[in-house]
Amino acid sequence: MQALLDTLKPGEPDWELATALDPSRIPVHLAIIMDGNGRWANRRSLPRIAGHKAGVGPVRTTVETCARLGVRVLTLYAFSMENWKRPRAEVEALWRLLRFYLRRELPELQRHDIRLVALGRLDMLPPAVRAELEAAIDVTRLNRGLQVNLAINYGGRTEIVDAVNAMIEESAAKGTLSTLRIDETSLAERLYTRGLPDPDLLIRTSGEMRISNFLLWQIAYAELYVTETLWPDFSRTDLLRAILDYQKRERRYGGLTALPDVALAPDEPLAEEIGVSSR
Ligand code: IPE
Ligand code: IPE
Ligand code: MG
Repeated sequence: MQALLDTLKPGEPDWELATALDPSRIPVHLAIIMDGNGRWANRRSLPRIAGHKAGVGPVRTTVETCARLGVRVLTLYAFSMENWKRPRAEVEALWRLLRFYLRRELPELQRHDIRLVALGRLDMLPPAVRAELEAAIDVTRLNRGLQVNLAINYGGRTEIVDAVNAMIEESAAKGTLSTLRIDETSLAERLYTRGLPDPDLLIRTSGEMRISNFLLWQIAYAELYVTETLWPDFSRTDLLRAILDYQKRERRYGGLTALPDVALAPDEPLAEEIGVSSR
């Protein structure tokens, strides 16, 4: 948090937003559905691919700002398993852009001590893309700062199904399949996000009110924030606004944060409480 303030001066854009943040309530895990690249390009009569190119800058800004804020984990939805339905030329352009991003940003990631991780079925990626991605992951694997998860060829349902199948296989190999029981902990330990806390805040750009198969298991109690801003326009200001909004939320997890004024006595008839006659 202080690292961000150190880069700003009073009166500068974002100074006010940054100083309004509560340093003790920065989301530990922030997840973002980076959406709206195509519409950004359309509005400028440009090909969709130009929108994807313009989306690289905000990735850099977001990663850097999260590192400075002290966010521990940033998960970015870059390519869904459903995105293969798009024209081949668009998909290929996305892979080219990913390679471009990795080459350009690797020194920056190293400088900020950022660890890169990929979430998704990497075996379906073009081999050269996969090799470059895995090399970048390997280079940053000992970094101790922000962890950036790139969700690539990611599908939430597939992730859960894969986790269940992994448990079945492990159990079959041990000869204990007939007594296998799955619980929340054992399943979570086999997701791509094993060992990480669940996202506190999920941001989606471009105004779409849906999850699009992202982190289905992990977002059970994430706070949701949808902005109309299209991803290529997503700025540090947008990010700080989202976090400020998050800090105003009351997270209850199904419980109560404040005790009710009058506690319900254990023997108080419930029927009267809800205004229904018990006779
Ligand atoms: C998000 O932007 C990037 C990816 C899904 C790869 P879109 O390409 O979905 O942009 P819109 O939603 O069509 O505007
Ligand atoms: C979700 O966006 C996937 C990514 C941002 C990578 P989409 O644009 O693919 O989602 P839908 O099709 O609008 O649900
Ligand atoms: Mg989209």
